[in-house]
Amino acid sequence: MCGIVGYIGKGETQEILLSGLKKLEYRGYDSAGIAVFTEQGLEIKKAKGRIANLEEKLDGAPLLGTAGIGHTRWATHGKPSDVNSHPHTDNSHQFSVVHNGIIENYLDLKEELIAKGHVFVSETDTEVVSHLIAEEYNGNLVEAVQRATQRMRGAFALGVLTSHEPDKLVAVRFASPLIIGVGKGENFIGSDIPAILEYTRDVYILDDGEMAVLTTNGVELLNLNGESIAKDIVHIDWDLVTAEKAGFDHFMLKEIHEQPKAYRETMLGRIAEDGKSVNLSKELEMSDDYVKSINKVHIVACGTAYHAGLVGKSVIESLARIPVETDVASEYRYRSPIITPDTLVIVVSQSGETADTLAAMREAQRNGARVLAITNVVGSSVAREADDVLVTWAGPEIAVASTKAYSSQLIAFYLLGLHLSRVRGTQSSEQIAQVIEALTALPEQVEEILEQSAVLKQVAESMSHHTSLFFIGRGVDYAVAQEGSLKLKEISYIHSEAYAAGELKHGTLALIEDGIPVIALISQEDLYEKTLSNIKEVKARGAHVLAVTNQGFEAEVAKSVDEVFSIPKTLPVLTPALSVVPLQLISYYASLSLGHDVDKPRNLAKSVTVE
Ligand code: F6R
Repeated sequence: MCGIVGYIGKGETQEILLSGLKKLEYRGYDSAGIAVFTEQGLEIKKAKGRIANLEEKLDGAPLLGTAGIGHTRWATHGKPSDVNSHPHTDNSHQFSVVHNGIIENYLDLKEELIAKGHVFVSETDTEVVSHLIAEEYNGNLVEAVQRATQRMRGAFALGVLTSHEPDKLVAVRFASPLIIGVGKGENFIGSDIPAILEYTRDVYILDDGEMAVLTTNGVELLNLNGESIAKDIVHIDWDLVTAEKAGFDHFMLKEIHEQPKAYRETMLGRIAEDGKSVNLSKELEMSDDYVKSINKVHIVACGTAYHAGLVGKSVIESLARIPVETDVASEYRYRSPIITPDTLVIVVSQSGETADTLAAMREAQRNGARVLAITNVVGSSVAREADDVLVTWAGPEIAVASTKAYSSQLIAFYLLGLHLSRVRGTQSSEQIAQVIEALTALPEQVEEILEQSAVLKQVAESMSHHTSLFFIGRGVDYAVAQEGSLKLKEISYIHSEAYAAGELKHGTLALIEDGIPVIALISQEDLYEKTLSNIKEVKARGAHVLAVTNQGFEAEVAKSVDEVFSIPKTLPVLTPALSVVPLQLISYYASLSLGHDVDKPRNLAKSVTVE
């Protein structure tokens, strides 16, 4: 977790660091800080809370210099506080470090350093790094960092400065993302590309075990043994404006509205011109023979991406007729999953940097599985390590609560399901063409739903004063119910649970009481009667029910519920790509009416790079 930036050059160091930190605030916002070489030496300013608090501290007392590092924190070791904020330093105040990740053996190292006379002021694992580098220093920063990192276990992306060598900024990557921006007479480091995109479009994407030594005039890339390595510069051609709010009040609302575009982009170039087939062979490395040999699929992901995986299971099972298990990544690798060479493991990750997902993926690869990644970030760790990659092309997602990334993951699953079913011959060409026709209609249908936002705003406002609510559904409706419930919890802080509608009577029905809101998804024709009975069960116990159903069913459903919201008609397997949209809007408006910070909910961060 956390975001780091660094700069060396003749520009406005403090401004460049603060601007980079603002782009990275989605990675954590418990505190922020910067360290800059000024005429006084290495000066550090940091503040608990948002970057604005740090800016206040710097107001009137700016740090002027030619090199600096900055950090925005998502607390892991040590509560959010000024003293636990980064950058950290050693007792001599000659070294300064920013860190993203976790040093697993920090307590052992700390004990050893204390025995050598080091005095620690914070509760963080990172402070150990600054002391360790100081301890290892004997006149060469690069070598000191190499020696220190060889002793550290865990995950780290580091930016390091020392006033002994003020012409240098050293950066290291090990299992936490880090990129190097290459400018003219100035160079940068950042946890991700938007942090430095205002200043340069040329970047190196570091791999694990690589380090960079930045000076004003150049960047040298090394491995942790100090040997030079060669790497290609990646030129970034996407624009920062796409990562800004474009007139919407919040990134989340903007991203909800971007879904029609995201669906189109995800489908672009993947459907044959005659609209009759999907062929992913150009981008997937797996051969048709391999596709035919797959005998089971494991889908592994976290949070919202896991919920996309639950829908993915239905999609692959119904279209390609391959048995699928979906797991949360943090559980998968510890349950000794049965992986054989004909198991395809699909990992789903918006950021492509989620530590649990990465660890599960590596475990699957160690066990001989082929891994296909569905991700939104091209140069991410997941994308680089997977055997096959299906990029979702949803564009940068800034709001912590995932919306367009989730729904474009669904589109990726539909495309994959159609590709697999074509190769395996599990659907007739007429059936495939029918799904594609319905798929390509989805963007316009989402637009129709978005036009009804005002109704959903009212619903959300009336629900927002409740302390608890339930989502119910069957089949893919249950999968979407789980995503709706997570979205509501994470940004409105209202307690909610998602239940398989048929399961309520086995316990949860006891919680239903007068006036409690229940959002019922009822979009599956074959399950319609059964779900309606479950709705009647909660209605009979006094629940206030909003049903989300398909056009055509609404008149009938309306007889049994308090409110109905209808989504355009589509094929049953595709309904999640529509039914999730009203749930996203309800969460958004509920959070808004409660006055919460919609884009940056408490305790959460966009990219979870710790296990
Ligand atoms: C919730 C949310 C998270 C992420 C999860 C995985 O809105 O965004 O649950 O889905 O942390 O993140 P990625 O997809 O980046 O692996």
